[in-house]
Formats: sequence, C-alpha cells, structure tokens
Amino acid sequence: MTSGELKIHQGQPILLKEKTPFGVGGRRLCFTHPDDPGKCVKVLRQDEDKTIRGKKTGFVPARFRRTYDNNAHERQILTKIFKRIGPEMQQHLPLYHGMVETDLGPGMVLDLVRDADGRISRSLRELISTGYELDQFRPAFDQFSEFMLKHVVLTRSFLDHNLAMQHKADGSWQMYMIDGFGDPAWLPVANWFRSLGEKKVQRRIASAWTRFEQFRDSGGVTQELIENSTWGQGFLNHRGETPTAKAG
Ligand SMILES: Nc1ncnc2c1ncn2[C@@H]1O[C@H](COP(=O)(O)OP(=O)(O)OP(=O)(O)O)[C@@H](O)[C@H]1O
Ligand SMILES: [Mg+2]
Repeated sequence: MTSGELKIHQGQPILLKEKTPFGVGGRRLCFTHPDDPGKCVKVLRQDEDKTIRGKKTGFVPARFRRTYDNNAHERQILTKIFKRIGPEMQQHLPLYHGMVETDLGPGMVLDLVRDADGRISRSLRELISTGYELDQFRPAFDQFSEFMLKHVVLTRSFLDHNLAMQHKADGSWQMYMIDGFGDPAWLPVANWFRSLGEKKVQRRIASAWTRFEQFRDSGGVTQELIENSTWGQGFLNHRGETPTAKAG
C-alpha cells in the first residue's frame, strides 16, 4: 500500500480516544493497531502543547510549521525508500501500510518494533536513562550505520528517542529508526547525486555516537523531566502487552 488514500476499517473509524498511546512524541500519538500486533497507528497531536522539532529560524513561517503534516511527508519518503530498497528495508526501518480513519483523525499505519518476548521495543533514550550500558549497543549501531550508508538513506540527525532497540532472543540488539526520515535541506541535491548523499549519511553517523555518550554522561532523562515534559521523552507508556492493548 503506497497511497495516502484513507481506508475505512471494518466500516467504522478505529477507536483510539479511550486508549492509552504507547508512545507520545512532540507531534504524534502512537497506538497499537487493534488487529495486528506487528503494526502501529500514528495520529497527529491536536493539542496546544505539541512541538515542531527542527530549525527554529530560517524561512519557514511559524504558521506553516505548526500545521505541517508530518505523516504526509513521512509516508512519501518511506514509500520511495521501499521502492528503492525493497523488503530488506524492514531490517532497520518501518514499512508504511497505508492510512486508516480513526476517531482522532487520519492514522498512518506502520510496522511496530517488538522484542523477542513480544513487548514493544524501547528507545535508545529510555534504555540509556534506565541504566543500560551504552557500549552494548555499539554493534547494533555499527550494523545500522552500514545499512544506512549502503542504501544512502537520508535522514535528520539520529536522535536517541527516534531509535527503537529490539532485544532479540539471543540477547543481542537490532537498531531501527522509527522517525526522522528525509533530507531537511531546502534543495534536495543529496537525493540527486549518490556521492553527496553518502557524505550526508556519513555526517549523521559520525555525530551520533558522541551525542549518545554526552546524553549518558549528563545522566539521561529523569522522572521529573518526564513529568514536566509535553512529550514522552522517548519513554513508553506501556509495552503493548496483549491484555493492555485489548482493554477498553
Ligand atoms: N514503530 C515503532 N516501534 C517502536 N516504538 C515506536 C515506534 N514508533 C514510535 N515509537 C515510540 O513512540 C515515540 C513517539 O513516536 P514518534 O517518534 O513517531 O513521534 P513524533 O511525535 O513524530 O516524534 P518527535 O517528538 O521526534 O517529533 C518514539 O519516541 C518511540 O519511543
Ligand atoms: Mg520522534
């Protein structure tokens, strides 16, 4: 499914209002899909506290930034990446499965990352903040970086709350980028020339690990910060266990 066409789910909108989103970003609420534990539904936040992450200065009027539809942009990019890479994309990026109608507006259906035990995978930000040694994620980061470079996947910075870490049955980790796709540049020249694109991906890779180390050294996210924040700080509200997901 590649279009932005809205699908009606079993003749009526998917009911999300009464459910607890497993993830709350600055712009979107993320819910488990009612019929498929391997998928999630993302809707745009409509509340006044939503944030628009990105450059605060520049030529984009604030008015436009506030109404910017993150879902529309993301589905175009993910569809293009899928056309180029094919199913191998699923090793590190979510597939886009179409739009559905919900009682919170149009919902974008994407792969949901889960651990081997079935629970929703936590972000690198949550894991670092809750005492997991950063170094154990290095092999997963290196493998992820190699993939992004091989396929020249253009993204914004690799942010710790946009990286979901899947804990596999053998104890190792797999890194997925779940948000932040596309080249933020005004002129997408890096899309046109492979060598420019590669340089850009290399810059993302080079700056990421130091940022993760700095975040670890700063002590990570505190409970107080989560409570005073307008978004979930990359911490999950719940891990999509079946009884919770089906409740309500
Ligand atoms: N496909 C997924 N698999 C696992 N966890 C996810 C997935 N999508 C989102 N999450 C969790 O939900 C949180 C919020 O999701 P997402 O990053 O899509 O929201 P956003 O509002 O676009 O974020 P931002 O604040 O970066 O703009 C993430 O930080 C992550 O913890
Ligand atoms: Mg995010």
